[in-house]
Order: sequence, then structure tokens, then C-alpha cells
Amino acid sequence: MTNIKQLIQRVQRYRFRFVLIPMAFFAFVFKFSYLTQVEDQSLQPLQLSTTRKSGERKVPINYAVFATSTPNGESYRSYDYAYNVPLTALAWERIGFRSIVLIIGSRCEWENEPALKLILSRLEERRGTAIFVDSPLQYRQTLSQTARIFVANMETFPGQNDDYMITTDSDLWPLRREHYIPRPGSDIVLAHSACCGYFSMNNKSYQHFPMSNIGASVSTWLQITNDNNSIVARDAESILDYLQEVFGEMARSPVVVGQPAWYMDQHIVSIRIAEWMERHPNQSVHRVSDNGFSRLDRPKWDADKLSPADFSLKFDTHLLLKGYLPSTHARIKPLIHLMYGNDSWETKWIEEYNQEFLSKIKNWVSL
Ligand SMILES: *[C@@H]1O[C@H](CO)[C@@H](O)[C@H](O)[C@H]1NC(C)=O
Ligand SMILES: *[C@@H]1O[C@H](CO)[C@@H](O)[C@H](O)[C@H]1NC(C)=O
Ligand SMILES: *[C@@H]1O[C@H](CO)[C@@H](O)[C@H](O)[C@H]1NC(C)=O
Ligand SMILES: *[C@@H]1O[C@H](CO)[C@@H](O)[C@H](O)[C@H]1NC(C)=O
Repeated sequence: MTNIKQLIQRVQRYRFRFVLIPMAFFAFVFKFSYLTQVEDQSLQPLQLSTTRKSGERKVPINYAVFATSTPNGESYRSYDYAYNVPLTALAWERIGFRSIVLIIGSRCEWENEPALKLILSRLEERRGTAIFVDSPLQYRQTLSQTARIFVANMETFPGQNDDYMITTDSDLWPLRREHYIPRPGSDIVLAHSACCGYFSMNNKSYQHFPMSNIGASVSTWLQITNDNNSIVARDAESILDYLQEVFGEMARSPVVVGQPAWYMDQHIVSIRIAEWMERHPNQSVHRVSDNGFSRLDRPKWDADKLSPADFSLKFDTHLLLKGYLPSTHARIKPLIHLMYGNDSWETKWIEEYNQEFLSKIKNWVSL
């Protein structure tokens, strides 16, 4: 009895808890659902602009896609390509592109290693997209070369059909914008298409197009890689299966520089583009002319001697190896100044990244 009395008293004393708290709760729920509705309404125009209904189209995005394998951590040498990733994304940003980076390896490997984690976070600052293609070690070299052309098939690919996508390498910086941008009325844009002669496959001759650079809309890329093919290559295994259909055993054999397997990426894309042209005889392919322009190349690096006028005649640069080492970074700096200006935020951002990267790999490198 007393227990019940006490309970009633307590209820009276703490009545506000039994009344006010549920009231506050309902008010909260009501307000929350109201806010959600308001938010939904405000989202609607945004959704309309991305669903591309008749007449109302979003501005297509230009993407550059390149790959890096996962440094094995055995020595600082293996960071050559990975280090460049955020810097190459910045170079593409300079000419109006966002970057999609295919990382051949697992997210776990990258998030648990300080230097690799830094690379990921700097790539994110540049609004780049990392797509991880996990694979056993023995296929990583093959995939880091061949996966690029299949990126539009991948689950986390950020692009849409009318976006434009150009293939490139992580150690190439584009310099001359006009070399890379989409051409109105052209379905495929080929840079340096006359570089590499012809090769033959099953008694048929194909022009050899270099992976740097091939541009097309996402929908055209899907036609190039998927039409007339039974396998949709979207992860390590299906990419290797796709390659095996064309190259047989070579698809899963070790890659040696200069050996046939080394050229599988450029051969498969050249074959698929030739077939695409056969299937679409009336569609246009634009071949960018290199006349009057050249590459600032690794073997004869003279960035410190370039005037702004010389610089404007370079279409791209093939970066020096070990760009993070202070001595090498100093040789690249004059180019960075020409690209971004001596005192720009980009130049400062690069300096900071370089310093921070060095601090993360100091176990391997004596400066
Ligand atoms: C290639 O051509 C040669 C001679 O014309 C022929 O003997 C051979 O069977 C052909 N090979 C293929 C794979 O078609
Ligand atoms: C379609 O695929 C077959 C088998 O791979 C190939 O021989 C043929 O050239 C392709 N045709 C076109 C137009 O792509
Ligand atoms: C290409 O254009 C020609 C002439 O305009 C036309 O006769 C032909 O049907 C077209 N071919 C295709 C595949 O659209
Ligand atoms: C910018 O830096 C370069 C060296 O990278 C130097 O030659 C040039 O004079 C500097 N320009 C200005 C405006 O300070």
C-alpha cells in the first residue's frame, strides 16, 4: 500500500517528467518530420537538374582517369606513382578536370599506412574519387595498366552518360588544355594518335593508340568496351577474364617491361576503338595535332630554362621519378611556378604536401 502511495506521490512530484518529456518528444518528432519535408522540397530542384529531363541538363563533368598500384612499403622507391596521385589530380584540376584514381589494392592497405593515408586525404581535397580494385599481388601490374578503360563499368564510378572521360597516367601532367578538352561533335578524341604505328592481331592490322590520352563521353566508352562483348569487366576477375578472351594465357601471366603483355592495355583499347569505328562509320573521331607542341620529358628535363612562351608550347610533362626527394622536387619546382604562379595557393599546397609526405617516409629515406 505504502509503496503505491509513494509511487503516486512520486508521480505527482515528477509529473512534469511524465508530461513534459513526452510533449517535448512529440514536438521534436513533429519538428523533425516537418524539417525533413522542407528539406525534401528544397532538394527537388537539385534532383530535377541531375535527372536530365527534356531540355534541362546539368553541365557535364570532365574526368581524367589514371591508376596507381599499391607501394609495397619495402623501400621508398615503390612510392613513385602513388606520390604523384594528388599532384596529378591538381594538374588536371588546373585545366578543368576532376580525377578518378583506380587504386590497385585494398582500402585497408591504404588507410593503415601513414604515407598512403596522406595521399588519399590529399586526393579528397582535390575532389578526386578513389576506386579500389583489390587483387592478388601477381595481377596488380596488369590491372594498373588495363583497368582504366573499364572504369565506367565499376560500381562506385561517379560519372553519368554525358560526362566526358579521358585516360591518362599518374606520372603525366597535362599542360595545354586544348589538347584534352572534349570537341563538340566528336565522339572520340585521340591525343598523340600518330605516335605508335600499327600492330597486328589475328591477321588484322590495327593502329596503336597510346593510353595517353583517349577521351570520349561515358556512353561512348561503354559502347567501346561493352558492345559486342559478353563479359562486362568491372572488377579484377572480370577484367582478367575479358583480357583472356582476346589475349589468352598472356592475360594472367607476369608483366615484363617491353614484352607483349606490357602492351595489352594499349592493344585492347586500340582493337576496341577500331571495332567501334566499324560499327559507327558515321561518327566522328578527332585526332589532336601535336604540330608545334612537345612534351617536357623526363630524360631531357629543362624546366628551369623554360620561358612562359616555351611553356605554352608544351602539351604535357612526363614527370621525373622520385619526385618527392628534395633534390628532384627542386628540379620540378620551376615547372610548378610556370603552371600555377610562384605564390599561388596551389604552389603552397604542393610544398606542404611534399613536406608532409617526406615526414611520413623518413624511415626509408635519408635526406
Ligand atoms: C593468318 O593468315 C595466314 C595466311 O593468310 C593463315 O594461314 C592463318 O591461318 C591466318 N591466321 C589466323 C589466326 O587467322
Ligand atoms: C564483334 O566481336 C567479334 C568477336 O570478338 C569480332 O570478331 C568482330 O570483329 C566484332 N565486330 C565488331 C563490329 O565489333
Ligand atoms: C551513314 O551515312 C550514310 C550517308 O548519309 C547512310 O547512307 C548510312 O546509312 C549511315 N550509316 C549508319 C550506320 O548510320
Ligand atoms: C618565380 O620563380 C622562378 C623560379 O622557379 C623564378 O625564375 C622567377 O623569377 C620567379 N618569378 C617571380 C615573378 O618571382
